[in-house]
Amino acid sequence: MGPEQAHVRDLVIRRARASDATALARVQVDSWRETYRGMLPEAHLAALSYAGHERLWRRTLAGPNVTFLAVLGGQIVGFASGGRSRTHRGFSGELQLLYVLRSAQGRGVGRALFDAVHYGLAVAGMPDLVVWVLAANKPARAFYEHLGLEPVGRASSLLGGIRLEEVAYGWRDRA
Ligand SMILES: CC(C)(COP(=O)(O)OP(=O)(O)OC[C@H]1O[C@@H](n2cnc3c(N)ncnc32)[C@H](O)[C@@H]1OP(=O)(O)O)[C@@H](O)C(=O)NCCC(=O)NCCS
Repeated sequence: MGPEQAHVRDLVIRRARASDATALARVQVDSWRETYRGMLPEAHLAALSYAGHERLWRRTLAGPNVTFLAVLGGQIVGFASGGRSRTHRGFSGELQLLYVLRSAQGRGVGRALFDAVHYGLAVAGMPDLVVWVLAANKPARAFYEHLGLEPVGRASSLLGGIRLEEVAYGWRDRA
């Protein structure tokens, strides 16, 4: 049974381990190509490589980041990773990556991964978090707004000659 048929009650969220680097790289590259076609330069998406991302994941998984992955229908269909905020703005934690393959979206996987990293960061002493989203990524922005995050900043950068606008969403500790 593939992830398309699997019922969400069969969803497993677990911490990622070093041996997951290959699978995480595959899901990340595939998910980026699904998500960012038309938003990021085509050359940038074409240049993404499983091997390069596997190297990045080996480094990430050996470091202090909190990383969880989602298994549905026996396959890894998404992941989320966070750590200390890289941009401050009054937030201790940062959700750096949250990706669910299109075939598994809309079934609670994204929320479950968000909650897992949010909890993992809070336990590590980072109860509030920020996440940066491409301004053009309307579905992701609506998802974070639905979860209760609020826009807290904007930034702009250049990638392959294209100007990218990003919006920061924040979750403040309400305890
Ligand atoms: C954005 C993303 C992580 C959401 O994950 P998902 O598994 O599709 O979302 P879920 O099924 O867990 O949805 C959780 C809740 O958010 C809501 N939601 C999801 N997408 C939404 C959207 N585009 N607009 C409004 N609400 C949305 C759902 O209705 C659900 O509500 P409920 O729990 O109150 O019933 C996922 O679609 C994804 O990986 N997209 C591509 C990659 C990406 O853009 N990542 C973010 C980069 S910063």
